[in-house]
Amino acid sequence: LLGNRENLYASLLGQPGGNLFASEDRLVTIHDVAAAAGVSIATVSRALNGGARISAQTRQRVLDIVDGLGYQPNDLARSLLAGSSGTIAVILPDITNPFFPELVKAVEEEVNRRGNLLLLCHSADDEQKALADLIQLRRKQVDGVIVLGGQLSGDRLAGVVQGLAVVTVDRDVRLPGVSSVQSDHRGGARAATQHLLDLGHTQVAFVGGPKGLSVSRDRQRGYRDALKRAGIAHDPALESPGDFLEDGGYLATKALLAKPAKFTAVVAGNDLTAIGVMAALLEAGRTVPDDVSVVGYDDIRLASYVRPRLTTVRQSTGDLGRRAAALLYEAISGTRTTPVHEVLPVDVVIRESSAAPALIAKRGRRRG
Ligand code: RIB
Repeated sequence: LLGNRENLYASLLGQPGGNLFASEDRLVTIHDVAAAAGVSIATVSRALNGGARISAQTRQRVLDIVDGLGYQPNDLARSLLAGSSGTIAVILPDITNPFFPELVKAVEEEVNRRGNLLLLCHSADDEQKALADLIQLRRKQVDGVIVLGGQLSGDRLAGVVQGLAVVTVDRDVRLPGVSSVQSDHRGGARAATQHLLDLGHTQVAFVGGPKGLSVSRDRQRGYRDALKRAGIAHDPALESPGDFLEDGGYLATKALLAKPAKFTAVVAGNDLTAIGVMAALLEAGRTVPDDVSVVGYDDIRLASYVRPRLTTVRQSTGDLGRRAAALLYEAISGTRTTPVHEVLPVDVVIRESSAAPALIAKRGRRRG
């Protein structure tokens, strides 16, 4: 049996030399491997899946034959037998926004650590697309889905999640059996605004996220909380929705600049919005932070590379991803039957895009 690999398998399979891998009309099956190795199908399965009760020598011999015959275990058959596809899916709303891929990376590390595969679906902020993806994922028997951000309303989501383990991230969806994890959006926006008030700003504008998102609502509330605590009435003329993208920040700031209401600082709904805000300010001849301070939200890597580097609210995408994966596996395994709604802390990262208002800074210099 120690001849070269082809002779070995030819003799074992009783076939003349030539194509050992599969006859024209069929793929190699586990039965072929068992016959060639002279062992049972259960032994082949144990050799493939790292099971116990098999000697190292037998395992190696089976694996050599698997390799030589080009046998590919049929995952679909295995998942039907095991009742698990070993596949997890993530649906995300905007693959061009660095916040989401950074979070998905943490999810994938957890999924791969468990020997599972991650499928990625991109809804492009389209609720219909997200629903269609979820229905497809159910049909494909994925073990669970993490719904990341996005516009999918709770009742639409409820319609498709029966029998599917689901965890939502970044939004306040309360569904039976569905856990969620998100950052403290309201607390983060409150702290960002408080940072500007502490610098001496009293005219602080807000360019938030898309209407209809719990995240956008919570951040606007946090902004207003800080103003109220400082005895400053919020001025709707200084508030504008955005789209969580650079364009939304840019256009909203141009509109704010065209209004009579003055402002010396802007709280942005996320970092991409803040980058758009800074572009519009610079185009209008306002320098950042000397004329106008800007604070973002997320702390994506880019926040440290724009100039001036962006003061922002750091969300831990790693913790969000790891918690979402852990909660999903608890739902899949049934070790968690009552949903939890986790809120993770955030912190303000102070960089060069925020500073005292020009008047106060000038006074400070005079007093020097
Ligand atoms: O940058 C994308 C934004 O959408 C983030 O702030 C995240 O919280 C999500 O809501």
